[in-house]
This record gives sequence, C-alpha cells and structure tokens, in this order.
Amino acid sequence: MFVCVCNAIGDKCVSKAINDGHGDPDAVYEALGVAPQCGQCAETIEEMIFDHRCKSRMLIAAE
Ligand code: FES
Repeated sequence: MFVCVCNAIGDKCVSKAINDGHGDPDAVYEALGVAPQCGQCAETIEEMIFDHRCKSRMLIAAE
C-alpha cells in the first residue's frame, strides 16, 4: 500500500524508517531520501509513528 503517492513510498519503507528511530514525518522523508510534495501523507505517517510508539510501550509493559 502506498503511503506517499507523490514519492511512490509504500508502508513497508515508512515502517522501516520508523523502526529505525525516525520519529516525525520530516525525519522519515529524509531517511527515505525524498522531500514532501503535497504533504497529504504526513498525517498517515504521524499515525504510523503513534501506533509504533503504542506497540513499543505495550511490549515494554508486558515484560
Ligand atoms: S502523498 Fe506524500 S507528499 Fe504527497
């Protein structure tokens, strides 16, 4: 599934950047070597970062 249509970036690439510690959309764009165009994907990337943080906290709490 494409997250960023303008740069043809899929969810797996965005997830990899987030897992590597890039914690905001600008950092994700930079990690992937692109620049935002229309900016409509920023909200989706923010949601993916939020989900990642929630899952990480749940894993820590379960330990
Ligand atoms: S969809 Fe990502 S910049 Fe347009």
